[in-house]
Amino acid sequence: MARADAEHGIRPFARLFKDAAEQLRNADKGFRHEFHTSDSSRSRSAHPDRLAEGPSGGSGDAPPPRSRPSDPYPKIELHVHLEGTIRPRTLLDMARRNGVVLPADNVEALSEMYQYRDFDHFLEMWRTTTGTMRTEDDFRQAVIDYAREAKSHGVEYVETTFSPINRNKWDGIPYPAMFNGVADGITAAAERYGVTVRAMPSMIWGGPPDLAEECAKWAVRYRERGIVGLDASGNELGRGDVSQFDRAVAIARDGGLGIVPHAGEAGGIDAIREVLRWNPDGLQHGIAAAGDPALMAELVDRGTVLRVTPTSNVGTRVVADIAEHPLPRLREAGVRCSIGTDDPALFNTTLGQEYELAEQLGISPASAYQAGVDGALCDDAVRQQLQEVGEAAFGDHPA
Ligand code: ADE
Ligand code: ZN
Repeated sequence: MARADAEHGIRPFARLFKDAAEQLRNADKGFRHEFHTSDSSRSRSAHPDRLAEGPSGGSGDAPPPRSRPSDPYPKIELHVHLEGTIRPRTLLDMARRNGVVLPADNVEALSEMYQYRDFDHFLEMWRTTTGTMRTEDDFRQAVIDYAREAKSHGVEYVETTFSPINRNKWDGIPYPAMFNGVADGITAAAERYGVTVRAMPSMIWGGPPDLAEECAKWAVRYRERGIVGLDASGNELGRGDVSQFDRAVAIARDGGLGIVPHAGEAGGIDAIREVLRWNPDGLQHGIAAAGDPALMAELVDRGTVLRVTPTSNVGTRVVADIAEHPLPRLREAGVRCSIGTDDPALFNTTLGQEYELAEQLGISPASAYQAGVDGALCDDAVRQQLQEVGEAAFGDHPA
């Protein structure tokens, strides 16, 4: 069957690519008005009382970003951080509710800070904003809100990662509050929007192994409620000896969960080779493999699906320019690539935009969707259903 988007007026390749390049150049210019250091950010920090300006979007009330022409075809997203889905207005409301001081007190100033000098600066900003989530309801609402947004982009299935370890250790949020919130959000997302959401907690690269093991145990306890895997994220360059996490990985595996770590984003080829000891079910990013033909061949042999996020890779500056993104090289080598947003609010993107960018880089929507079906950690019934939706939209031979 022909691709459904032909009738929806997708802009021609050259134009779209020019638009994307222009957008990224402007983002780069915006960086010059940057948020400087954590000191200057502190001096601009708002007192929670001053955050009350403007109408409250309310967590579920903010309209999702407008749909784009490609939205009608179905999509799967396997790489998105729950904390990074919260749009600035909602984040400001959440901060006010929870008495958290953010380094900006309005949407414009907050959005301006989402321009990153480098990967570390991005992670610093990510940690600053994600500390805003404090209650069971925050976690539940974040899942529901993102399902609503995703639905507006034709998304059938979302696998979201979330990072409970620091929230538990630093803010004392009990694990059951976070896991119950996510699990209830998963149920509500299916009921309200017909979007299937699955989730996995993330270990912290370089973090204490005992905390990773505790996190893995909680994940296993919630297996019947939509928790499907274990991730590892954060500063991949500071990962140390990855074997420290062997026990956490074994706990997750023995409990029936999949393993999908971040590797090969900022951490390079070595990081990917090191996590292969866990026989991972997929890799978040994995794009550094493009620099090593033997490694790409190994990923092809293993059938490993990468969860690639084009805009985020430019936003964190691990890729200099979208035109230099390694997706075409991965595709040519036969590495399977699904497409995600990573942190849509923090990179000001949507899954619709990421599928369009990927298409310009040689990954068709049909192939991104099929890689999503094959790489998802869902059960067989869900996979079969996703397969049928894909075949109805794209035919049974994805390009
Ligand atoms: N946490 C949120 N986004 C991340 C990314 N792109 N890499 C590592 N850790 C993250
Ligand atoms: Zn990520």
